[in-house]
Amino acid sequence: MVSAMRVSSRLASVLLERRIIVCVGSGGVGKTTTAAALALAAARRGKRTLVITIDPAKRLANSLGLRQLGHTVQEVDRALVRKGAASATGELHAMMLDQKQAFDEVVQRHAKDPAAVSRILANPVYAQISGSLAGAQEYAAMAKLHDFDREGNWDTIIVDTPPTAHALDFLDAPRKLSEAIDSPAIDWFRKLQGGSGSSWSIVGKTGAFVLKRLSKFVGSRFIDDLGVFFTEFNDILGGFKQRAEETFALLRQPRVGFVLVASPEPMAVREALFFHERLVAAQMPFIGFVVNKVHPTLPIRADVPAIAAALAAHPGVAGLGVSGTTCTMAAQALFAAHGDIETLAEADRVAVGQLHKAGGATALLVEVPLLRDDVHDVDRLVGLERYLLG
Ligand SMILES: Nc1ncnc2c1ncn2[C@@H]1O[C@H](COP(=O)(O)OP(=O)(O)OP(=O)(O)O)[C@@H](O)[C@H]1O
Ligand SMILES: [Mg+2]
Repeated sequence: MVSAMRVSSRLASVLLERRIIVCVGSGGVGKTTTAAALALAAARRGKRTLVITIDPAKRLANSLGLRQLGHTVQEVDRALVRKGAASATGELHAMMLDQKQAFDEVVQRHAKDPAAVSRILANPVYAQISGSLAGAQEYAAMAKLHDFDREGNWDTIIVDTPPTAHALDFLDAPRKLSEAIDSPAIDWFRKLQGGSGSSWSIVGKTGAFVLKRLSKFVGSRFIDDLGVFFTEFNDILGGFKQRAEETFALLRQPRVGFVLVASPEPMAVREALFFHERLVAAQMPFIGFVVNKVHPTLPIRADVPAIAAALAAHPGVAGLGVSGTTCTMAAQALFAAHGDIETLAEADRVAVGQLHKAGGATALLVEVPLLRDDVHDVDRLVGLERYLLG
């Protein structure tokens, strides 16, 4: 217990020292909850805090008492945030990133002039692919984080990451995006648009043949839109790549930290171990694990006869005329049910041990017990502080 407290309070000092904390982990383990609880804790310690969430379930908005949470930053009721807090100056702001809107902002920033922005945003091909281009969404999320960091308005920024099967895709997003746009097929379309006179002549006889066949299915208008799109996109690609490199460099700064949220289920542990390897390989500053929804170990220090005797003597039972045998049977049932919980707790101990070993001596490991209820309001989020931060 002493060491657990020490470890937790180390997370408290990390929270106060780092500017950006990114919560990653597999689906449903408690990333959004942990991000919200950490953000609230920072605000309650006097920090001007922003939590950026990608939470389509809108659980965070409900938990923070915000009726709607969208792409604009909103402040959480100060009275709620500061109730019983150590500091009365902190603030908590939240936004739910709209990834399509974030990607449009990236285009706005890098296009050569406002007319080019309008052309790209109005292009039907852009509308189709900006939501599905490999890595585009993750790229946009990280670009937004980069903006917030550069603005310098926040003491602390906590980032929640999306519930994807590939939760660390954002690490590859800039590369994937560049590769997608730089691919030979796309280059071919770009040349098509860049040609003078009859644009189809530039792609050669075979190309022209393919295009004619293709346009029968999708229409020549679509082929033209595609060409225009990739030419315009080519212009902003330089800005994109530079931005991606800057963002990647930002994520490696010591003022950033990654918290890996896991649960003790075998699948979640396997994924957490895999994520940990990837973070380390990508040289991202790893803070530690938050193991959420752990079954607590609560050993019963009594045997069946002692429990049966306590039951029989209990004022609520004594007046009911319950026999000693019934009390013994009830005690046996309780004992067996508790044994099942102890088995789960024991399995969780093994899982936590695996993560501990992977993290090594320097990584933090904090356990949060499986709670009876969902964590869906500010009071419950504040309640998590004592497990997360000690
Ligand atoms: N320690 C806990 N005990 C009980 N319930 C919890 C605990 N932590 C989180 N929950 C609940 O588990 C559910 C999932 O939590 P959360 O939304 O934070 O997970 P997530 O990792 O963000 O999920 P997703 O991958 O879908 O975004 C929520 O209903 C939340 O209230
Ligand atoms: Mg979530």
